[in-house]
Amino acid sequence: MRLSVIGCGYVGLVTGACLAEAGHDVVCTDIDRERIAKLNAGGVPIYEHHLDQILAFAHKAGKISYTADVGEAIRSGDAIFICVGTPPKDSGEADLSAIDNVARQIAAEAKTPKLVVEKSTVPARTGLELSRALAAYSKNSNVKFRVASNPEFLREGTAVSDFFHPDRIVVGVEDPSSAAELREIYRPILEKSFRCPVHNGTCPPGHKAEFLVTTINSAELIKHASNSFLALKISYANVIADLCEKIGANVEEVTHAMGLDARIGGQFLNAGLGYGGFCFPKDVQAFIHLSASVGVDFDILKATERVNKQRIDRYFEKIRQALWVVKGKRVAVLGCTITKTLTRHCRTPMPRSFAPSGMFSASSIGIAPENSWPANW
Ligand SMILES: NC(=O)c1ccc[n+]([C@@H]2O[C@H](COP(=O)([O-])OP(=O)(O)OC[C@H]3O[C@@H](n4cnc5c(N)ncnc54)[C@H](O)[C@@H]3O)[C@@H](O)[C@H]2O)c1
Repeated sequence: MRLSVIGCGYVGLVTGACLAEAGHDVVCTDIDRERIAKLNAGGVPIYEHHLDQILAFAHKAGKISYTADVGEAIRSGDAIFICVGTPPKDSGEADLSAIDNVARQIAAEAKTPKLVVEKSTVPARTGLELSRALAAYSKNSNVKFRVASNPEFLREGTAVSDFFHPDRIVVGVEDPSSAAELREIYRPILEKSFRCPVHNGTCPPGHKAEFLVTTINSAELIKHASNSFLALKISYANVIADLCEKIGANVEEVTHAMGLDARIGGQFLNAGLGYGGFCFPKDVQAFIHLSASVGVDFDILKATERVNKQRIDRYFEKIRQALWVVKGKRVAVLGCTITKTLTRHCRTPMPRSFAPSGMFSASSIGIAPENSWPANW
């Protein structure tokens, strides 16, 4: 199928690359012209394991192309994946202005019917608003749009592997034809008929993705509910850690044993500095905001956020306890990103903890690459 991807960040580029590898013809676009120029020159603006390899292969095979002309990209695809950012406003509410801009561009540029797929993380009911916006912005043309929600669950650092081996592919639709079209787009992944870069060709048998067809509202809610639940698990483990310290238990023993219960599961049950990264903080905030806007008080989630915010202070308290006088001492911190294969560390707790409010009295602050500790440390 012919697919367009709008937004060449983590989600857009990985989606475009993997769907091209799966056999579709993909055109990617971004308002960032430098990013498009870099991609056209064979560069990859982000680091993700295997991404350079599949982009190079797909480009050579003529399955993927990049253009700074958004109109060209919009006209070329039967289905358009919206992968632009949805950052938080000061209130915590998701800023959907990039989605609205894209809706205007699609309405203005499309000459044939399109399936418009929101892959960006958006609050429930955004798809319905998008549908309304597309109809309003295109009122002078005869072009018809169908809207679908297809939330993305990939993790930065293992994004290509996650895209090719998902636990579930969720599609929220308004009509059966959209579900059928999306099933066709994902068929190579459901049937594992792509050349897997992670497993050097063929994936081992066993793992099978569920293809779930829901309403658009449900699909949007599934994404926020999933991320918020994982954040909640992390905060839960952190409160257990505080409790363990007070009563003399070992948090790793406790959470390990808890995680062996299949009903609980061990993932995201690790005590530490708290959650960070690009998605969890903003998605938790957006979910709290959405709940409040419809009169539901999501108290557990507010507590999740509060516990997370306290982690840095607790961390510094530990440093103070260990060092007594912090002034003039050097503190080595191992690991500054969320995962070891990640290149960006926005909103991760560690860079935040380098902020002057915490380390005002340490003698120097710096971030050194791995294997480059000063010799005298
Ligand atoms: N990063 C993740 O791990 C992840 C995982 C799942 C879902 N998501 C969600 O996916 C969405 C995108 O996330 P990301 O990490 O890829 O963001 P990103 O900031 O890395 O990329 C967004 C890209 O969209 C481009 N863009 C913005 N407006 C545009 C427009 N009008 N036309 C064309 N391009 C435009 C930007 O220039 C940027 O390159 C967000 O809603 C995010 O919450 C992210």
